[in-house]
Amino acid sequence: MDYHEDSARGAWGSKIAFIFAAAGSAIGLGNIWRYPMMVGLNGGAIFVFTNILAVIFIGFTVMLAEFAIGRHTRKNPVGAYNAIKPGTHWKLSGYLNVAVGIGILSFYGVIAGWAVGYFFKAITGAFRRDLSWFDSEAIFKNFTADPLVVFVCFSVILVLTVFIISKGIKGGIEKWSKILMPALFILIIFLAIRALTLPGAGRGLAFYLNPDFSKFNGTVLFFAVAQAFFSLSVGNGAMMTYASYLSKKDNLVSSAGWVCFFDTLVAILAGIIIFPTLFTSPEIVPGEFVADTGLMFQVFPMVLSKMPGGYVFGVMFFTLLLVAVLTSTLSLLEVPTAFLVDEKKWTRRKAAIVLGALAFIIGIPAALSNGGVKLFTKWGVMIKMDFIFISLGMTIGALLISVFLAYAWGVKNALKEISFGNSRFKLKALWIFNIKYLAPVVIVILLIIIINIF
Ligand code: PHE
Repeated sequence: MDYHEDSARGAWGSKIAFIFAAAGSAIGLGNIWRYPMMVGLNGGAIFVFTNILAVIFIGFTVMLAEFAIGRHTRKNPVGAYNAIKPGTHWKLSGYLNVAVGIGILSFYGVIAGWAVGYFFKAITGAFRRDLSWFDSEAIFKNFTADPLVVFVCFSVILVLTVFIISKGIKGGIEKWSKILMPALFILIIFLAIRALTLPGAGRGLAFYLNPDFSKFNGTVLFFAVAQAFFSLSVGNGAMMTYASYLSKKDNLVSSAGWVCFFDTLVAILAGIIIFPTLFTSPEIVPGEFVADTGLMFQVFPMVLSKMPGGYVFGVMFFTLLLVAVLTSTLSLLEVPTAFLVDEKKWTRRKAAIVLGALAFIIGIPAALSNGGVKLFTKWGVMIKMDFIFISLGMTIGALLISVFLAYAWGVKNALKEISFGNSRFKLKALWIFNIKYLAPVVIVILLIIIINIF
């Protein structure tokens, strides 16, 4: 079959384009902003190791499931569930995916907006002098508490996302991901080397990589699994939708493997930058430190302010961060857009604009929650939205995908789809076990634990 076969709907230009776009969706704030925060909140190294295991055994498993369903049906999540099990309630899972995509975009866009603000700060030289943790904290608090600036930056992200999505698959998403993602990767390696050579880096590295097994518990495991889903863009139909533009020639197994590998590597490197830098600050006491949404925004300016050429590196870093963020916001918006285009026959442009406006409205409380409106700050709106849409929404979405594949569509049918472009699936037996038993059972247990705690 040809890449351009379904050209009315759009298709990827080549096999490598798909891997870049899927990696572009996966790599974003989830790796650079949320991952270090979750490590900080969940006992350090023990979270790092648990998360890696979650990626290998559960994240990869569900990603491959999404790829198979997406390519087989060539549809958005609602259409995909409906195509395989017509007339059943399974399509509600697709609606959940669509809603979660918009929900995440609404507050992810606010944080992405902060990155826009920091990009301008980097250009104007705000991170030039040697910044202490307190300086950096003051910059962050002042910035995020200013509603006007936050709204302007949030709008910039949404307008760009809507604009690129309305351009379609090849001209939009694909073009952006191909050159700039590798550049981000190289820059992150540079910054990691700098962080590791800061005096006193060892203290942070120990927190990050030397696990304290006594800190392991159900909550750590739940958040490690949820973070794996979020970071890999698995559990809300984003990968399903991207795979719907794939050809039968592509190898779904190796594509999933590469995406998981790159995504996890970038997250680990982000932690290598954050923790050594953070703990070089005399103000930070490891046992008392509590990570929050400001962690990344406070630590990166610190490391940049302490390195030769920090200005240039800073501008480059925030430019590339914006690209990484945009390739993720695109995939968040692509899920509901594909739904309206496929199922409701809207034009891409109209769908993208209406959905972008909706994300803006839902995002208003999040935008005002860092000091803009005291009540929203008190409620912790941002963290609550994160918990509902990411930790619950994506985890439940991933559970439904695995149950659907294993028990409604059937592993046999899925394996047939996977076999196109991959005649020898070496880890077949393991994947079957994971999708049928490990993923659903672990997720159900974790959801029960977490619902009892909260
Ligand atoms: N994986 C993206 C990130 O790490 C976020 C995302 C989640 C994108 C779900 C699409 C779907 O930033």
